[in-house]
Amino acid sequence: MDRERPDSARLRLTESFGGTLPRLAGVVGWPLDHSLSPALHNGWLRRYHISGRYLKLPLSPENFKAGIKLLQHLGFRGVNVTIPHKEDAFQIATRLTEIARRCGSANTLVFGDDGEIFGDSTDGTGFCENLRAHGVALHGRALILGAGGAARAICAALMEKGSDVSIANRSVTRAKALSAQLHGLRHVSWDDWPSHLGAVDLLVNTTSLGMQGAADYDWESALSKARDDLSVADIVYVPLETSLLRQARRRGLRTVDGLGMLIEQARVGFRTWFGKDPQADDATRRALLGALG
Ligand code: ATR
Repeated sequence: MDRERPDSARLRLTESFGGTLPRLAGVVGWPLDHSLSPALHNGWLRRYHISGRYLKLPLSPENFKAGIKLLQHLGFRGVNVTIPHKEDAFQIATRLTEIARRCGSANTLVFGDDGEIFGDSTDGTGFCENLRAHGVALHGRALILGAGGAARAICAALMEKGSDVSIANRSVTRAKALSAQLHGLRHVSWDDWPSHLGAVDLLVNTTSLGMQGAADYDWESALSKARDDLSVADIVYVPLETSLLRQARRRGLRTVDGLGMLIEQARVGFRTWFGKDPQADDATRRALLGALG
């Protein structure tokens, strides 16, 4: 997005849509090459015959604030926000949901008519919705691997639902920082997290272990310590079946992949911007898998 006078930009945009602006939303990030959000939202817009457009909006960190103001002025309903802007989105929001406040970050911005910017953090909520759709109870004991932004959102959401949550992270400093931020979050040592598996109902991997091209882990021996009714979730979706999920499936455990979380968190924004609650069904998953190639 280049720097252009807001009024001429708005005029140009309106003209490019033949004089009437459709409902507009998009995803803001830097870089944005791999975002699946446009395929997801535009697929739903087509399916429900809604006159709207969801655009990829690459925005460098130094242009974030001005870019958001411009999008507001252009008549966008709001945006999804991805790396590296989630903390900046939290800062720019004039009103925040409780979960966004707890996370200290926002991944969904809704532009109000009065200039207000509502900030929400829907990753954790989307994650929980997806678990629920897979029949996983949310009030049990959960062990989360990792202490980055995704872990923070998931821990906050699970704790809000009444889960008893622990984290394990390679860097102890980050693990301690996160448990200090989220009151009631415990942490266990990275070296012996598998020994805790006998006492948990849900294991969630939010680290990059097992992601395409990244380092991996000896999940098989870790899972040998799990109870038979453990549910295992991974937030990575490339590959869709990570080595953790493959080992869990072989061990006969219930598995939840990362695509559902992406779909569920997107539903929140879609409902607000486009006025329709979209289906998170097999057709949606298939369309996304097609976009993944
Ligand atoms: P996000 O904010 O998307 O969760 P992130 O901040 O890059 O991403 O976090 C990645 C997570 O993967 C971190 O918890 C990281 O552990 P450290 O805090 O110790 O860096 C974890 N991670 C990455 N590579 C890892 C590895 N080889 N072994 C264990 N954990 C790893």
